[in-house]
Amino acid sequence: MNDPIVAANPAVLAGLDNYLNLPAAQQPTWPDASAVEQVRAELSTLPPLVFAGEVDILRDRLAAAASGKAFLLQGGDCAETFADATADRIRNRVKTLLQMAVVLTYGASMPVIKMGRMAGQFAKPRSSDSETRGDVTLPAFRGDIVNGYDFTEESRTPDPQRMLKAYHTSASTLNLIRAFTMGGFADLRSVHEWNRGFANNPANERYLSLAQEIDRAIKFMAACGADFNELRTTEFYTSHEGLLMDYERPLTRIDSRTGNPYITSGHFIWIGERTRQMDHAHVDYLSRVRNPIGVKLGPTTQVEDVVELIERLDPNREPGRLTFITRMGAGKIREELPKLVEAVRDSDANPLWITDPMHGNGITTKNGYKSRRFDDVMDEVRGFFEVHKAAGTFPGGVHVELTGDDVAECLGGSEQIDEASLEERYESLCDPRLNHMQSLELAFLVAEQLAKR
Ligand code: PEP
Ligand code: CO
Repeated sequence: MNDPIVAANPAVLAGLDNYLNLPAAQQPTWPDASAVEQVRAELSTLPPLVFAGEVDILRDRLAAAASGKAFLLQGGDCAETFADATADRIRNRVKTLLQMAVVLTYGASMPVIKMGRMAGQFAKPRSSDSETRGDVTLPAFRGDIVNGYDFTEESRTPDPQRMLKAYHTSASTLNLIRAFTMGGFADLRSVHEWNRGFANNPANERYLSLAQEIDRAIKFMAACGADFNELRTTEFYTSHEGLLMDYERPLTRIDSRTGNPYITSGHFIWIGERTRQMDHAHVDYLSRVRNPIGVKLGPTTQVEDVVELIERLDPNREPGRLTFITRMGAGKIREELPKLVEAVRDSDANPLWITDPMHGNGITTKNGYKSRRFDDVMDEVRGFFEVHKAAGTFPGGVHVELTGDDVAECLGGSEQIDEASLEERYESLCDPRLNHMQSLELAFLVAEQLAKR
C-alpha cells in the first residue's frame, strides 16, 4: 500500500484508525464495500490539497483571534455542488467574502482571517436516513460527495466514485481561490473591482463609499512612499465539516517535518452538531490530527459537554487549536450561551468563540421552503456580542452560509425578500443562504458591533 502514513509511523496510524472501533453517526450505507476500499486506496495516493505549514499558520492566526487580536470570517455554501463549481460562482463567493472582510477590517480596525466553507464542503448530515415522497422511500441526499439530489433510485444510491469527484472539484476550486487571492485580484487597490457585476442596492452603495475612503487612504500612503506587500495578496483558508470518514481518513497525511498527522482536504475542519458525541468516531478522529478544529454547539449544550470537548480536543490548551461555533437561535442565545462562556472563561482554556447565526434559525415558509429570517440572523449576532460583552470575553468571529449570487433563500434584508420570491430564486440544495446583499448588510452590522465593543 502506498499510504505515506504506513511508512511514516505505524503507532500514529493505529491511533488514527481507532475511529473504526467506535460508532460513527451520519455515514452513508455504501452498497459495495470493495468499491469503497478501491476509492480509499486511490484517494490515499493523491496529492494533499492543503499543506501542513499553511495549517500551522492558520492555527497561529486563530490563536490571535482567540486572544482578541483578530476576527474570523467564515462563509460559503451550506452544501457545495459539483455543478456550481464554475469560475463565475466561485469568483462571486470569493468577492463577497473579500468585500465582507474589507468592511470588517476597516470598520473594526482589526485583522480579519478569511475562510471559505469552500473547496470541500460536500458532505451533509441529515435528520433522517431516508426521504419519502408519495409511496416511494429512498436514501436521503447526503451531499454530492455521497449521492445525487435527484429523487431516483439510481441517483440516491451512495456511489463512492463521487468521493474522487469531490476531491478533484475541491482541487480545481482551491486552484481558482489561490489564483484569485495570490494573483492580484485580491489587491486592496482593486477594492472597487470586487463590487463589479453585483446589482445596485443600498448595501452596495454603502460599500462603494467605504471603498472610496480606502482608496484615498491607500493613495495617501503611496504618496508618502509607503508600499505594503500586504496589500497585494491575502491569505485565504478553506474549511468544511469533517463528516465523511471514508474521505477524510485517506486524505490524512503525516507531515514529513514533524511526523504529525494532518487532514489535508482543508485547513480547518469542524464537527457538526449531530456528530459531536463524546465516545464516537468524529471526536476521536479529530482529536488525533493537528488541524485547528471547530465544534458546533446548539442550544441544548451543557457546561459539562463543553468541558469534556476541551479535554478531548485540546488537552494541551494550545492557542488556536479549538473553536466553538455557537448556533443557538436568536430566541435562545441570550439564555443558553452565558453559562458556557462563563465556565470556559473561569477555566484554563482559551478557545475561540464564533457565532453561526444561521443554523438555529431555520423555519419552513407557508409555501413550503426551508428558510431563515434575516432579522433573526441579525438578532443572533447582536445576542452573541451582548453575551460576550457581559462575560468580558471576546466575540471572535462569524460563520455564515452565503453565496455571491442573487438568490432569494433567506427572508427580509433591505431588499425585503418575501415568500413569493423564494419560488423564483431559490437554488440551495440544502440550507438557505444569505445572498450577496444580505451578506454585505451582515458585515456592516458585525463591523458596528465590533467597533463599539
Ligand atoms: C452546517 O453547518 O451546514 C450544519 C449542518 O450545521 P450544524 O451541524 O450546526 O447543524
Ligand atoms: Co447548513
